[in-house]
Amino acid sequence: MIIERNKTYLLQTKNTSYMFRILPTGHAEHLYYGQSILPEKMYEEFLTLGKISDDGSKEADSANLCLESMADALCEKHASAGGNMISYSDEHFEIALEDLPLEISSFGKGDIRDPFIHLTHEDGSDTSDFVFSKATIQEGYLAPQTLPGAYCDGKITKIGEKEDKTSYLVLTFTEKEYGNILELIYTVYPDCDVITRRAVLKTPNENVHINRLMSCQIDMHESGLKFTSFHGRWADEMHKTESICDGGRIVNEEMAAGESGSRSNPFVMVSDKDTTDDFGNCYGFNLVYSGNHYEALSSNGYDKSRFVSGISFARFGYTLSKGESFETPEAVMTFSANGYNHMSEHMHDFVRSHITRGVWRDKVRPILVNSWEASYFNFTESSLLKLAKEASKLGIELFVLDDGWFGQRNDDKRSLGDWYENKTKLPNGLKGLSEKINALGMDFGIWVEPEMVNEDSDLYRAHPEWAVQVPNRHHSKGRNQMNLDLTRTDVQDYIIDAMKNVFSSGNISYVKWDMNRIFSDYYSNELVGRQEEFIHRYYIGLYRVMDELTKAFPNILFEGCSAGGNRFDLGILCYFPQIWGSDDTDAICRIDIQRGYSYGYPQSTIGAHVSVTPNHQTLNCVPLETRFDIAAFGCFGYELNLCDLSSSEKKEIAEQVEFYKKWRHVCQFGTFYRLQGDRFMTVSKDKKKAVCYMIQKESRPNRDVVTYKMRGLDDNKIYNFSNKYVTIDLKSMGSLINMFTPVHIKQNGLLHAVANAFVSVSNEKEDLTISGALLNNCGVRLKPKFGSTGFDADGDKVGVMRTNDSRLYVLEEKE
Ligand code: GLA
Repeated sequence: MIIERNKTYLLQTKNTSYMFRILPTGHAEHLYYGQSILPEKMYEEFLTLGKISDDGSKEADSANLCLESMADALCEKHASAGGNMISYSDEHFEIALEDLPLEISSFGKGDIRDPFIHLTHEDGSDTSDFVFSKATIQEGYLAPQTLPGAYCDGKITKIGEKEDKTSYLVLTFTEKEYGNILELIYTVYPDCDVITRRAVLKTPNENVHINRLMSCQIDMHESGLKFTSFHGRWADEMHKTESICDGGRIVNEEMAAGESGSRSNPFVMVSDKDTTDDFGNCYGFNLVYSGNHYEALSSNGYDKSRFVSGISFARFGYTLSKGESFETPEAVMTFSANGYNHMSEHMHDFVRSHITRGVWRDKVRPILVNSWEASYFNFTESSLLKLAKEASKLGIELFVLDDGWFGQRNDDKRSLGDWYENKTKLPNGLKGLSEKINALGMDFGIWVEPEMVNEDSDLYRAHPEWAVQVPNRHHSKGRNQMNLDLTRTDVQDYIIDAMKNVFSSGNISYVKWDMNRIFSDYYSNELVGRQEEFIHRYYIGLYRVMDELTKAFPNILFEGCSAGGNRFDLGILCYFPQIWGSDDTDAICRIDIQRGYSYGYPQSTIGAHVSVTPNHQTLNCVPLETRFDIAAFGCFGYELNLCDLSSSEKKEIAEQVEFYKKWRHVCQFGTFYRLQGDRFMTVSKDKKKAVCYMIQKESRPNRDVVTYKMRGLDDNKIYNFSNKYVTIDLKSMGSLINMFTPVHIKQNGLLHAVANAFVSVSNEKEDLTISGALLNNCGVRLKPKFGSTGFDADGDKVGVMRTNDSRLYVLEEKE
């Protein structure tokens, strides 16, 4: 809901308010963003009034009064510009832009903070002064022209009870001396408690060079706030980092990688110092963009903070000729007064309903088996079919053929760009293979990396000018490969054609779209003199390619990937509803990585697989159950050679698959709560079901009382509480089994092996019927785990929980 009275604006969501007003100078003073400041009754009143027009109608009078007095209370009162600050003008000497919260700040008129916009004009000056000229409020949303953006299709699947009806505001500013036009576009998603912002610059009178143009600026009336960002590297993404900003500037930035990046994800939070998952004020910010980005929180001597976000300007510039326009990526903002979990809930709901789209948006994702860690480049049609047969016996639904199926691709040194089958490995092509997989009752999917080329490829030999490199200079490679120049329309067309050909060459229902190196040797033959525009134009090109292909193949489930989670962002999620979370499949590492993603991204967007032990990235050994339990909270699959597993492992996997089919909707689409320690849980939107996760990272004896306290359940519902039953093999009890056996069994001897094949040790079983109120407010005291004494070998009262063992608990409303 957006309300305007006398140039005061209120952007209202269910639980948050955002306010600003236009000053007599034409600048927009930011008044407030946070917990709703409208009494509920008034919110209802506003809702029934709908859009309030300027006709001064009777009903609108109370709104009028209310908004104006709210603005009077919130605005800053200044008598004069203090000390050595700049007074804006003689008529308005009390206005010092340096000490005013603003909706946008331009460079050169006294606001010396991190600016929203910085231009160089045709006359060489880089001072700008944008002042208000008009505003329009509409229902619905206004789609960006060149970039992906959040959307609202008017018939949004309900997220629980939520059903957003969006409205948007276009606030137009004109640059006083030069006539350039800056539009700020705000869209309000009331039920998700999200507001998006972006900007469009138009230059009707002159050529302009953009040095920076941000997407979002939020000025806050306090300092000492906490800035939380997520950093990492390949195979180690999304580590949470917190810094207090009490003066100076804290920056989260991907300035040269050329992708949103694992080094610094564009999702960040700004909160009070003591905000936790369950308590406190917290803002969440993200950007619908996949290129270099910048998010910064600064605070100044007047105890004010500024948050800005947008395209990184470190290696960016853009020349607009007279009459052209430039639009920024869309920034997403949300706020909660109830801690990070509640903020995440808003973000998750928003991403699920307004970022991801297409037929897969609300559908549970199929359980897949991926060939990569099963056989890497080394496979034949018959070895793939063996794997597929095993997978189909276990109930797996989708077979994914990863890298290695095309050109001469027997290692990672060649053939990227040559998108035709390797007939030695696949004599019957993708068509023949996919038919055989389909005959096994499974869908078929394929891996591609269309944005790349190897020097050793037919494509490079034919078109060296399509690769990103500085002409006649040495170029550097990443994973032996080069980026293709997607700023060029002919390269985009080539990729579209090549991929259309691949995607229709068999019955393909899933595509993993990879991108395995960052950028170097930035250069495009078509951007001579404007190389600073390269990365931004690259993404405009990529988005065109993704748009055409996802429209041409609407039923394909696309999974983004960039050497794991190196391009995990809302831009990609506008086209591909899920992204491979990390090349690290070690279950223990995955806990931190997936927990990191969970702050800003819902489980239905995160690819997560069970792989072999010892793990291929860390050589750590982790039980199969533990590997399953963490992967279950994502787009789930197996990535190991199923044929090499023992019969008991296969049996365990078949049980996991069966369990997952029953619970995956809750795991993928439920509301996610981070709990104490490494625990977390998901609760279905109707609160009838929940799945809870627990891991024992370090097992110690004689500690048998463990309480599992939950969140988000309905206090008034009665639930059946149980655990996913886990069997343990006899061998894991070591020589202790002699406590229970009539004859002595030598550890690792023949008898031990025989006994192990036939006998398994029983584990604890939880089975209670209890209220949501008890579970939310107190929690369950779990059955004890083996801790040196008291083991219940053939009962179900005591469990085994070694270091790195985990458990899933499930709750179902008792009918
Ligand atoms: C990247 C991906 C992996 C796998 C390989 C194939 O590293 O992240 O999952 O697809 O490429 O080369």
